[in-house]
Amino acid sequence: QEIYQNGTPGITLPRQLLMCFFLSLSLAGVGCNSVEKKIYVHLNNTVPCVRLLNATHQIGCQSSLSGNVGVLHVLESEENLDWVLKTGPNPPYLVILESPLFTRPIMMKLKNGSSRVAGVAVVAPNANPPKGFSPHTTCPNENTGVYTEEYDPAFAHCNVTMWNPLGNGLSYEEYDFPIFSMKDDNDTQIIRQCYLDHNRAVNGSTPQYPLCAMQLYSHMSAVTDTATCMRRNDINFSISPEMVCDPLGDYNVWASTRPINNTAKGHKMFESVVIAAARLDSRSFFFDIAPGAESGVSGFVTLLAAAQALRNATQEAQPNRTILYTFFQGETFDYIGSSRMVYDMQSNQFAVDLDNVHSVLEIGQVGLRADSKLWLHSDPVSMKNSSVNNEVRKLIVNLQTASRGLNVSVEEPGFSQPLPPSSFQRFLRARPIPGVVIEDHQSAFTNRFYESMYDNAEYLNVSYPTNMTPEEQLEFVTETAKALTEVATMVARALYIQAGGAETQLSSINADPQTVTRMLYGFLVRTNNSWFQQLIPSDLASHLGKLGHTFLKISEPTLLVQYLLANLTGSTPNITQDNCQNQREDEEDKESKHVRPKALNTAPPNSTQREGYCVRSTVRLSKALSPAFDLRDYTSTNFSTWTESRWKSIKGRIFLVASHDLEMLTLGVGVGVLITSLILTYVISSKADMLFSAGREPANATY
Ligand SMILES: *[C@@H]1O[C@H](CO)[C@@H](O)[C@H](O)[C@H]1NC(C)=O
Ligand SMILES: *[C@@H]1O[C@H](CO)[C@@H](O)[C@H](O)[C@H]1NC(C)=O
Ligand SMILES: *[C@@H]1O[C@H](CO)[C@@H](O)[C@H](O)[C@H]1NC(C)=O
Ligand SMILES: *[C@@H]1O[C@H](CO)[C@@H](O)[C@H](O)[C@H]1NC(C)=O
Ligand SMILES: *[C@@H]1O[C@H](CO)[C@@H](O)[C@H](O)[C@H]1NC(C)=O
Ligand SMILES: *[C@@H]1O[C@H](CO)[C@@H](O)[C@H](O)[C@H]1NC(C)=O
Ligand SMILES: *[C@@H]1O[C@H](CO)[C@@H](O)[C@H](O)[C@H]1NC(C)=O
Ligand SMILES: *[C@@H]1O[C@H](CO)[C@@H](O)[C@H](O)[C@H]1NC(C)=O
Ligand SMILES: *[C@@H]1O[C@H](CO)[C@@H](O)[C@H](O)[C@H]1NC(C)=O
Ligand SMILES: *[C@@H]1O[C@H](CO)[C@@H](O)[C@H](O)[C@H]1NC(C)=O
Ligand SMILES: *[C@@H]1O[C@H](CO)[C@@H](O)[C@H](O)[C@H]1NC(C)=O
Ligand SMILES: *[C@@H]1O[C@H](CO)[C@@H](O)[C@H](O)[C@H]1NC(C)=O
Repeated sequence: QEIYQNGTPGITLPRQLLMCFFLSLSLAGVGCNSVEKKIYVHLNNTVPCVRLLNATHQIGCQSSLSGNVGVLHVLESEENLDWVLKTGPNPPYLVILESPLFTRPIMMKLKNGSSRVAGVAVVAPNANPPKGFSPHTTCPNENTGVYTEEYDPAFAHCNVTMWNPLGNGLSYEEYDFPIFSMKDDNDTQIIRQCYLDHNRAVNGSTPQYPLCAMQLYSHMSAVTDTATCMRRNDINFSISPEMVCDPLGDYNVWASTRPINNTAKGHKMFESVVIAAARLDSRSFFFDIAPGAESGVSGFVTLLAAAQALRNATQEAQPNRTILYTFFQGETFDYIGSSRMVYDMQSNQFAVDLDNVHSVLEIGQVGLRADSKLWLHSDPVSMKNSSVNNEVRKLIVNLQTASRGLNVSVEEPGFSQPLPPSSFQRFLRARPIPGVVIEDHQSAFTNRFYESMYDNAEYLNVSYPTNMTPEEQLEFVTETAKALTEVATMVARALYIQAGGAETQLSSINADPQTVTRMLYGFLVRTNNSWFQQLIPSDLASHLGKLGHTFLKISEPTLLVQYLLANLTGSTPNITQDNCQNQREDEEDKESKHVRPKALNTAPPNSTQREGYCVRSTVRLSKALSPAFDLRDYTSTNFSTWTESRWKSIKGRIFLVASHDLEMLTLGVGVGVLITSLILTYVISSKADMLFSAGREPANATY
């Protein structure tokens, strides 16, 4: 940082080199790192946009191999773009955008003028924007749901309802330059200051060298499309195990109210199964900042709470149908998780056959209810069949029965409209199955921040009184938690009747607001909290909350939901750790390595010696990898083909650049200094005794 006050790097550099040279000479072991630190400011807290590929396109961002360098330009308004795209004398520019300017028109202009744009850094605001923002498409998963031209041309391509009207599609564009997000903190202040001091054109004059510049590294290995990168993976693999891209994928989490023999695949069971589904994933423009509060968390937290509410009832008065809780991963990217499960069910790879599926109840976005209302969406096309229609009607009646006495009312949208984007569409694609999707919107989404970084705790109104410790916040029951508890109770009761349980039991089925509020805190505010640490094995607990951390290809949400579901639906048998381990190995089949039907959990964090205990549950993981990759059909139009490019380093830094002439001069001076130094070294080392006999200055005095 000092460098900015100094302002003459061409001279500073050699001087510092010289000092460093002397220092390292006199104090062997002192490195020259300090020099680099003075010249460059490394930006922490930056998150890139990365490259993704599908069957036909590449989307996202990337830099050149050695990083993109550009002269900093803080964009103050849209008119200011002219400087970047036309008039500025020192292209390429690295544009700093305040978040209100991160809009489609501006980004498209920058994309079009990419020869003068080295990159973009977007300053993430500390509070959500008042207006909506969604970088997603207006019609999510347009081509991989059930509404194709063949199914019903009137409903294809969101013809009737545009689900995400605020979607500007920025997440699906391709950019030739890196785009980073930066937290609005000291880094950003340094950048603004550097811009004001050096780069800002004052009174129409052109700014003089040295100028403040920024370098962004996010080189992506994969290009063109999925088929190309998978082919390169194969070629590379024969030489070295270096991959170019990876299929997007994770694991689905599922559990059942009755034990299901998981080794007997495709087994036609006597009883039928009611599927209760929610999605686990979400995304945003930037890699890994995807809170998905409304789009994902509101639904899966509701389903988890409903599963807990049903634990006693389904054990004491077991209804005739089995309830299968499923949590799908990768739904954002053309329904990876649900399409895989349906594919497995159809091809005898799953414990439950598709023929055994009685009905589906999906919990969509349920966090933003207006007037306590929820909307029951169904598929008008399959309901033309009278038996499907009857079953859907029954399910709707069950939901209405379940909502009695609760602060929730359920209604149908009241006009013929297709299903919103939902996992259930993938079941319908396979066969007409009765089902309902519960949402908080009648037609278009109420979510104004769909698949953006602003779909967060703040947006769901998960907030706490000031001065609370994290431990107090974890236990504090928020209004949002109370509201979602009502929804969870309604869902649990509806599932119970839908599975054939008696209505007289309903009053004993109640979701727990304490659990709901802890889950919201854990998924939206602080993952690394004392409750989650108790639930997951101690070797994994230390990694909680680290951005982008995956556990053997299992993402953190998947892992957490797996252990939560086990805790909320399972039991703790009184057996020793060794027995637990043994039983687990006996019962586990080879294909479900990550599955822990009896997981070893940990004792409360206070006990220094964290003792494990055994949990018996039916929770399992199943692959959420698109069948296109097993079939090696990389141009599939039926299944997701999304892959993510690999990269080596993601980083950003700012520094001052001299003009090219000055840089050459600096190099010349540098070489000169080097030669002088060598001579000096020789002289000094030969006269060292004489020179250093007196006391030395302490090292820090030099700076
Ligand atoms: C893109 O840039 C070219 C000049 O480089 C210009 O002629 C064209 O109108 C621009 N297109 C858009 C959509 O801005
Ligand atoms: C929707 O589909 C109907 C029937 O196919 C067609 O007449 C109408 O123009 C379509 N509307 C839009 C906005 O595409
Ligand atoms: C691939 O993604 C692009 C960009 O979103 C989209 O236009 C295209 O239809 C997708 N291709 C397939 C086969 O889904
Ligand atoms: C940011 O700068 C202020 C004042 O310069 C300082 O007090 C604060 O600790 C810095 N914050 C961080 C996170 O470095
Ligand atoms: C970035 O982090 C490193 C170490 O974590 C720290 O030394 C450095 O000062 C930070 N940079 C800024 C600009 O805060
Ligand atoms: C810019 O111009 C204004 C008036 O024209 C003058 O007062 C000001 O000092 C100038 N600033 C600089 C940095 O030259
Ligand atoms: C599960 O199914 C397999 C294969 O059909 C069978 O061998 C095994 O005995 C079954 N296990 C149980 C507990 O029923
Ligand atoms: C379930 O049953 C246990 C004991 O059988 C009881 O302690 C617990 O409160 C019950 N839970 C609910 C949600 O009713
Ligand atoms: C549940 O199963 C039992 C025994 O198989 C049967 O007697 C009963 O009628 C079934 N109940 C419902 C609601 O289907
Ligand atoms: C669930 O976790 C709690 C601690 O939060 C623990 O007391 C309880 O025994 C666990 N239950 C199961 C079935 O794992
Ligand atoms: C658990 O089992 C041990 C011996 O296996 C027994 O001593 C202990 O009392 C049991 N605890 C409970 C709560 O049943
Ligand atoms: C942890 O231990 C400390 C003292 O050993 C105690 O004050 C604190 O209440 C304990 N916390 C919990 C959650 O048990």
